[in-house]
Amino acid sequence: MKLAIGNDHAAVDMKREILAYLEEKGIEVVNVGTDKKERFHYPVAGYRVAKLVASGEVDGGVLICGTGIGISLAANKVKGIRAAVCSEPYSAKLSKEHNNSNIIAFGARVVGPDMAKMIVDSWLDAKFQGGRHGDRVAMITEIEETGTLKEEV
Ligand code: RB5
Repeated sequence: MKLAIGNDHAAVDMKREILAYLEEKGIEVVNVGTDKKERFHYPVAGYRVAKLVASGEVDGGVLICGTGIGISLAANKVKGIRAAVCSEPYSAKLSKEHNNSNIIAFGARVVGPDMAKMIVDSWLDAKFQGGRHGDRVAMITEIEETGTLKEEV
């Protein structure tokens, strides 16, 4: 498995910890975030990771900023990206099972390193369930691709 990881200045230490954690698990990780504490705009990291995921160069992405919000918003503007911000493992698991998230995001100012590792593990271990969930994800894609939704329920 190959993942991309990205972060802004608010998440340098957390990124280092999660990057090392993933590599210890034998996962190849492409680091496209900043390794400096100087200001680094989160949309840059969100965009870089999103492009790698959308192109299929990596199997998924991990994004970390102060809250996880800005960086995931940026990533979600790239076609084909479903980035989920999660502060606990249950949502991370369901973001994959139900929403087929291809990027997991969290906030370095929101969760501690141990919780972040649990979030990542939960997301990595989960599998998309398809079925009715697939129908709903297809509706998200329809909105993304056409700007409309035929079936308004
Ligand atoms: C940076 O100060 C902060 O705004 C950023 O890390 C993130 O939390 C934005 O959503």
